[in-house]
Amino acid sequence: MNETISGPKGLPISGNLLSFRRNPLQFIRTSAKAHGDVVLFRFGPKRIIYLLTNPEQIKEVLVTKQANFRKGKGLQIARAVVGDGILTSEGKKHLRQRRLMQPAFHRERIAAYGEVMVRQGVELMRDWKDGEVRDIHHDMMKVTLAIITATMFGKSIKEGADEIGHAIDVGLKYVANKASSFIDIPLSVPTRSNRQFLESNETLDKTIFSLIEARRNSGDLRQDDLLGMLLAARDEENGQGMTDEQVRDEVMTIFVAGHETTANTMSWIFYLIALHPEAEQKLHDELATVLGDKLPTVEDIPQLTYTNLIVQETLRLYPAAWTINREVVEEVEIGGHKYQPGETLMMSQFVMHRDERFYENPDEFMPERFAGDLLKRIPTFAYFPFGGGPRVCIGNNFALMEAALLLATIAQRYRMRLSEANQVVEPEPLVTLRPKNGLPMRLEKRM
Ligand code: HEM
Repeated sequence: MNETISGPKGLPISGNLLSFRRNPLQFIRTSAKAHGDVVLFRFGPKRIIYLLTNPEQIKEVLVTKQANFRKGKGLQIARAVVGDGILTSEGKKHLRQRRLMQPAFHRERIAAYGEVMVRQGVELMRDWKDGEVRDIHHDMMKVTLAIITATMFGKSIKEGADEIGHAIDVGLKYVANKASSFIDIPLSVPTRSNRQFLESNETLDKTIFSLIEARRNSGDLRQDDLLGMLLAARDEENGQGMTDEQVRDEVMTIFVAGHETTANTMSWIFYLIALHPEAEQKLHDELATVLGDKLPTVEDIPQLTYTNLIVQETLRLYPAAWTINREVVEEVEIGGHKYQPGETLMMSQFVMHRDERFYENPDEFMPERFAGDLLKRIPTFAYFPFGGGPRVCIGNNFALMEAALLLATIAQRYRMRLSEANQVVEPEPLVTLRPKNGLPMRLEKRM
């Protein structure tokens, strides 16, 4: 270990784990302020974690020296849910899957999904009523699940969609708990959480295998949805396609990676614009000028500049992926320190995005800050909501398009107000950064 790296004092056995668990975001942020470029944490007697806060060093981990790392413990545990798909696989297998799947996420391809996104937004509002209080986070989970399902399977699978949503939720909670615990209870031990987790996994498997089977049996070779593209994908070298297991893993991966992240982002957007009426007014003015009363389309997105700034600023303040972790596989030197195999490096978007070195009034919601050349002036890894390097989010354009279209569609029709004055919504950093206890808001119909 390196002598010059310091970190907050911890307890004899658990180290910093309890302080971390009590309030992870505050703990890592204050530790970063106190200890500089590299902060040392100990989670239990064996786990050593370094938080990196220098963008150049983050770049070395994610880009230049990425071959010395693998995904962090959390994502290794996530394999229990998503199998060995593109999010969790490593090395050659990852490269192969990434090449197979990349075309499905090309800009022209995903443009075709714009209509589905807007349609699902309109569908969601069908049971909304003026004046009612709703859990908007629940609604955002519902609509993003409907969108990912429809774009993946070409049609909405109404039956089973709620079950899938619930099962994914159970899976993610399980992963988050396991990732921040140093007692490793094997899945074979029938604890309550293990049993619940296995049950939810079975539900997911059943639903997804039956969808794959139905598509293979139907002889329907359409490639206008993600499932069609996965089934048609062939390896460039040996011409082989994916097995059902592999397709299942990729489908699950996209469900997990592409659903809650966007739902959280939408929830934070509605929370922030409710707190900032002047930003909301600018948004409404833009929607009126660019769209009038017609529904938005993909072609409108470039003109919806303020809408896009709100999305960018929300991803800064409440990055759905609030940290990226990597485990050292081979000794590697970064910033003059040698990191050893088994150690974890943590790079937190939440910490970097609220750093005074890069952002004026970092805790303030100011969408305009991104209007100029801010992104050119600050280092790349001072703003990285979608990660970076070869494992950058494959769905980043999909997500940005979905967020802009949903925001435009919904804000055209409804304004949302916090249901209680002075209501504070705490961010809860599980696998993703979600609003703790949901987001109850009162609806005001606009048109
Ligand atoms: C606002 C929404 C989203 C955010 C903030 C987000 C963020 C991220 C981040 C930070 C990573 C990199 C993780 C790492 O390096 O360890 C990632 C990877 C990934 N994301 Fe997203 N994501 C979002 C939406 C989506 C959507 C909509 C999809 C799919 C439709 C998606 C699919 C994926 C996949 C498959 C990976 C793994 C890529 C690889 O390892 O090659 N994401 N995402």
